[in-house]
Amino acid sequence: MPVYDLALCDVEFPDGRRADIGFKSGRIVHIGAVERSDEVVRCHGMLLLPAATDMHVHMRGGSQVKKEDWQSGTRSAIAGGVTLVVDQPNTVPPLTTQLRLENRVNEAISEACCGFAINAGVTPGADLISLWSAGAMAFGELFAGPSSYGETLSSDELSKAFQIIRNVNGLATIHAEEVGTSQPDTLVAHNDNRGDQGEAAAVRKVCQLNSTGCHLHFCHLSTTAAIEAVLEQRRLSTGPENKLNDSGGPCRTSFEVTPHHLLLSHQDFAPGDTSAKVNPPLRDKKNRQMLWNIWDLIDVIASDHAPHTVDEKAVSFLDAPSGIPGVETMVPLLLPEVQRRKHPVSSLIDKVSTRPCEVLGIPPAGFHPGERADFALYPRTITRVDPDELHSRAGWTPFAGLPAIFPELVVMEGGIIYRGGEFFNTVGRWFPGKGYPLVD
Ligand code: DOR
Ligand code: ZN
Repeated sequence: MPVYDLALCDVEFPDGRRADIGFKSGRIVHIGAVERSDEVVRCHGMLLLPAATDMHVHMRGGSQVKKEDWQSGTRSAIAGGVTLVVDQPNTVPPLTTQLRLENRVNEAISEACCGFAINAGVTPGADLISLWSAGAMAFGELFAGPSSYGETLSSDELSKAFQIIRNVNGLATIHAEEVGTSQPDTLVAHNDNRGDQGEAAAVRKVCQLNSTGCHLHFCHLSTTAAIEAVLEQRRLSTGPENKLNDSGGPCRTSFEVTPHHLLLSHQDFAPGDTSAKVNPPLRDKKNRQMLWNIWDLIDVIASDHAPHTVDEKAVSFLDAPSGIPGVETMVPLLLPEVQRRKHPVSSLIDKVSTRPCEVLGIPPAGFHPGERADFALYPRTITRVDPDELHSRAGWTPFAGLPAIFPELVVMEGGIIYRGGEFFNTVGRWFPGKGYPLVD
């Protein structure tokens, strides 16, 4: 009879089954009745879900530690059931050289508390090939539309970047928006200035510039018009027209949606509330409902965790930075909402855990052999989001008071790293991209 390192007894799995689960040497070794284990946790039928991978976070750090650093950001992730985060390269300065990427990896290795990957910055002067071989997970977000800490790339720059990324068989992640010329001073005006038709037009334009068939992943799509543009592109590349890329395969196109576009609309806030200023903007209630209507079509949900301090947000609407923190609240908010809307919990796991890993080409967390032994255990009781309980250095959330289920316990690589608000044996594990020399 094997002795396990850890046993979680009487858990409920996503398919409704109840059993014990035993871990040894970082892996699941048994699901069934577990008799002997060094550490035993009685779970009383709590829900055990594969931990999430949040493929769009801004962990800040470096010169922006007042907003967030790797320790606060990854603790925030873990407390929300996320054990792998993909960091965006619009740091200050941006991650556009091999040296900056290497320094960023070292900063994260010494501070991060969970798995992490880091994307390469794409600006006109960036050396994409050396960033790729230094271990960038993916490229971008490429700014096809400006945002906080991101300047727009021209059509020429975008299409050249796609060619290079295609050549290394990499993934280009895109921030797609068209921005009007008004000077918005309210959430409604901000929404109008970055409207749904502009988001859809930006998606179409980016697809047209991608003549070599690079894998495109659209970040934080916020409207059904933009999502329809992606689906149209997919039909073109795989449908009867069979538009193939240069090397003969259909080009892949995927997209993500954020929790804030699913759960918040601008009507929920005072007209000039800068805390809800984000790019793409919060839309109206109708658009929000329309996103839920196409729940089954959404590939990935990612938080776009973009922390700014209270002080930075406490300026005029026009001057306030865009972005909201959200890595810790993503799964806790969506879990009760998905259940309330009668979608299977497995559909949520698909979007926050399995599909992001599929898009990135890394092993997902899960119960099958070869999958990462990363899990989060959720109680049955619904609580409410309390800003004082969150771990991001930002110290605020636009989701305050909303119903949520936070994990009681989080397992990474077969060991407990979080339980009842406390962190244990946390380590930052780097997931380099496919161009990294040490990877097969
Ligand atoms: O609202 C946003 N904030 N959107 C982005 O694309 C960037 C982000 C940031 O870095 O603050
Ligand atoms: Zn973005």
